[in-house]
Amino acid sequence: MIVLGISPLDKDATASLVVDGRVLFAAGEERFSRVKQQDGFPAKAITAALQAGRVRPEQVDRIAYPFLSWDKEAALIDKSMAAEQEFQSTFRAPGLSRALAAARARVPQRTEPVQGLASPNQRKRKGFLKELFYRVAGASEPWSKRVATSRSRDWAQRAAQEHRHWQGELERGLAQLGLRAKLERSEHHLSHAANAYLASGFERALVVTLDGYGSGLAGSVSLGEGGRLERLADLRFPHSLGSFYEMVTSSLGFRPDRHAGKIVGLAAYGDPDVLTDVLLGRADRGQPGDLRLYQNLNVYFSRHLAAEFPMVDVAAAYQRALEILACDLVRHWLARTGARHVVLSGGVTANVKMNQRIHEVEGVEGIFIYPNMGDGGCGTGLAMQLSWTGGVRESIRDVYWGPEFGEERLLAAVRAAGLECERPASMAQHLARCIHEGWVIARFDGRMEYGPRALGNRSILYHGREPKVNQWLNKRLGRTEFMPFAPVTLWEARSRCYHHLAGGEHAAEFMTLTFDCTDFMKATCPAAVHVDGTARPQLVRREVNPGYYDILAEHEKLSGSPSLINTSFNMHEEPIVCSPEDAIRAFLDGRIDGLALGPFFVANPKTKPGQED
Ligand SMILES: [Fe+2]
Repeated sequence: MIVLGISPLDKDATASLVVDGRVLFAAGEERFSRVKQQDGFPAKAITAALQAGRVRPEQVDRIAYPFLSWDKEAALIDKSMAAEQEFQSTFRAPGLSRALAAARARVPQRTEPVQGLASPNQRKRKGFLKELFYRVAGASEPWSKRVATSRSRDWAQRAAQEHRHWQGELERGLAQLGLRAKLERSEHHLSHAANAYLASGFERALVVTLDGYGSGLAGSVSLGEGGRLERLADLRFPHSLGSFYEMVTSSLGFRPDRHAGKIVGLAAYGDPDVLTDVLLGRADRGQPGDLRLYQNLNVYFSRHLAAEFPMVDVAAAYQRALEILACDLVRHWLARTGARHVVLSGGVTANVKMNQRIHEVEGVEGIFIYPNMGDGGCGTGLAMQLSWTGGVRESIRDVYWGPEFGEERLLAAVRAAGLECERPASMAQHLARCIHEGWVIARFDGRMEYGPRALGNRSILYHGREPKVNQWLNKRLGRTEFMPFAPVTLWEARSRCYHHLAGGEHAAEFMTLTFDCTDFMKATCPAAVHVDGTARPQLVRREVNPGYYDILAEHEKLSGSPSLINTSFNMHEEPIVCSPEDAIRAFLDGRIDGLALGPFFVANPKTKPGQED
């Protein structure tokens, strides 16, 4: 059965071609349109998917879309909001003024600079009037309760309108392809659960989905067994860990839909003990296995904290509270089901540090996080579910599911840019030598990665010997990050570099969780180790990506380090490159020293390798 999966149109619209549960092609529209997290009908990605699979539109059996019709979504939203009102009126949150006064006394003095902040204890000051408003609207009952109610109502109205809008666009797009009649819709969290569980390879696993919103829910708990999913619990919107984290991301000055990872990085500099108790006091922890968060959509509460407390401590508290709430949930359902494996999906599970904590929960023997954990992966998940032929299969080997380009096209792109290229006898040896000598190298080879992470085929590589690379290379690439670049490490060297890998090795092939680093890793690749001693590696096996693996192996011979820095090949706020033309443009814009384009090597005529700026 041939199923075309289309992920929600509101953000990061993605097309997937799935045949009998196997993904033949999957890519986000953003890679083709060159607009980050492109919304709308993914016409270009669908065309690429059908071309890659040599499938004509009329051969598609079903179209999978992971949301219900807009009127059903609106009814579910209304139901969730009514339940929230009841919770708001009965839950007794602890008094804030005393708790915040105690928290203020816990703020440490700091002198160590935090890269990207003007001072280590920088607050998000907004001026007297705004800050007064934040205090009243966010942290002073009964006004804050009224504001929370009104924001929930506004959210519900806006969401219903958006569902209606995207439904129209979806149906028009499908009608143009003659596929409107084949559209099949599903409840949202089934699609997250399906992508994670069916791709995990686990026979029996606890399946937890956590996101912002989907079909009245903010998450779900299921048991996956024998290739089938049984829903155990619904986690109701707006008690959403996604919204919880979005509030603080926005309040600290970042884009809530895009920059949550910056908060994870920032959190490592702060002291979670300053404010975590205050946040946990607003969670109803009397109902294990569920999530209930007081005034969760009232952004002025986190705005108030961001104005009053150091940004690093606010980030640290939200991160710690998230980890505690998620781990409590997992612990409860592990005990109820007796499961020993956990699979995760949903936008919240992009939080690599939370995933580390879940991996460390006692009794967890294996973990898998779907590599495209956000809504971009939902169309794929539902398409897998609809075309699954039963039973359990081996876990996915890789996610190189996007387009690839032949040598002629690569050469044509080089020539069109007026560049010279060579064809080294051994690209791996050539690149390893360049990297060892301090070149910044971009690698463009094979099929493009699916999902948010570059996994070697559209990657920038550099040695990890110098921590300061995190400043100058980010500047050159037009990025601000609080987390260091991530490492890629040879599979065979994994235990030399990371602690407590057991059960998380396969998940680490997709950069989906952090691990504590060994002293060897800290000594040989310090640029990839965060201030808390962790890193979020990609482990690479030769059978999965030999060209990529061989670069690392050759580099290890020269340097003794089995790891390199791997960061996505793109420019500031642009999607990861897709075509060879994108690659050459980003190569020149980013002043990258060398570009490996398939078998061809291009040296940048305008850079001086080994020089920072
Ligand atoms: Fe979702």
